[in-house]
Amino acid sequence: MEFDLTTKDRKLDHIKITVDKNVESEASTLLEGIFVTHNSLPEVDMNEVDVSTNFLGKRIDAPIIITGMTGGHPDTAKINEYLALEAEKHGIALGVGSQRAAIEHKDLEWTFRVARKYAPNVPLVANIGASQLIKGYGIKEVLDAIQMIEADGIAIHLNPLQEVFQLEGDTEFNGILSKIIEIVDESPVPVVIKETGTGLSPEVVYVLYRLGVRYFDVSGLGGTNWAKVEVLRAKARGNRKFAARLDGYGDFWGNPTAYSVIMARMSAPDSTIISSGGIRTGMDIVYSIVIGGDLGGFALPALRVLVKEGREGLNRFVESIIYQVKVGILLTGSRNIEELRCRKFTIKSNELRLILTNEGYDPYRYNRVKCHNKLKVPLGWM
Ligand SMILES: Cc1cc2nc3c(=O)[nH]c(=O)nc-3n(C[C@H](O)[C@H](O)[C@H](O)COP(=O)(O)O)c2cc1C
Repeated sequence: MEFDLTTKDRKLDHIKITVDKNVESEASTLLEGIFVTHNSLPEVDMNEVDVSTNFLGKRIDAPIIITGMTGGHPDTAKINEYLALEAEKHGIALGVGSQRAAIEHKDLEWTFRVARKYAPNVPLVANIGASQLIKGYGIKEVLDAIQMIEADGIAIHLNPLQEVFQLEGDTEFNGILSKIIEIVDESPVPVVIKETGTGLSPEVVYVLYRLGVRYFDVSGLGGTNWAKVEVLRAKARGNRKFAARLDGYGDFWGNPTAYSVIMARMSAPDSTIISSGGIRTGMDIVYSIVIGGDLGGFALPALRVLVKEGREGLNRFVESIIYQVKVGILLTGSRNIEELRCRKFTIKSNELRLILTNEGYDPYRYNRVKCHNKLKVPLGWM
């Protein structure tokens, strides 16, 4: 195997566990609760279906981002290199993992820099944790992270669930909002507010939208779940007492991706919304766009296929996802992403309908306005 993941390190622990173990939540994204009408007379040439779109000021060839996972340990650099080569080959966006290690240890910067080296043209998203902001990071560290990979945007990741489940987690969250706003005001590139598998809620999106954020990566429930990862890690380290204290949350706590996307669009209408967390197929991306997302993002499937099947496997996977997105556009009778976004949809699952209705979701109004995301006024869920 090309990847040496034997060193004892938290980052490598996370990669080993997520690749080898069942770390995905039992709960679903609820995307299966969406119904979109099939069109038997598409009148569209499959070869002319256009899946390109804009992201962070650049044109990308498909509405896809491989979201941030790694870097910060020498053994992870190859992963970033191969993900970058793949992103560049297909003209899709890429995020790197938390850059904290390299901000604090300059000798690790190269493990992130490879991303820009091998993906010179695509949008790259830098990454820092909101917890680091609370612990004293400011614009200086943010600029370090951005410059390190000549990033087009910087993700500030929110991961309270992981922090409370992590043996060495940081759990003092007060003061977080004002620190984020400081960065939003001063950052030279857009800030992407990103969850990590438990889903952004409408309140969080709305507050940050009002304060100037225009990029959201919902990273909802239904995919990789950090409660599960950290419980497995605690068990592997022999800390059964800690693991037992936490068991149980992993499968169900969080905002499912479909709910998060719709509520994010309602709360931040003219923003760019990444639908992620449990996105596993091109059809998931098609549904994500129909319900109001701009891009689909995934992390774990790319990592797994890369570690297990190498670059060829990753290439096959990304190609098939892009093809599936094209198929979905065609089968709705659309020619491009903009037309797909304007297809109407119905919520067919009671669970999704119930949690949306509870937030004031009105299908008629939503279907009418979600495709014109130039709308400047949030759709009143509050
Ligand atoms: C091994 C691994 C490491 C990750 N590290 C980070 C990170 O450093 N920063 C971050 O914002 N998200 C991180 N994530 C979260 C992903 O970007 C993504 O939001 C989450 O895994 C849900 O997507 P998925 O279900 O497709 O995996 C990581 C995910 C994985 C699998």
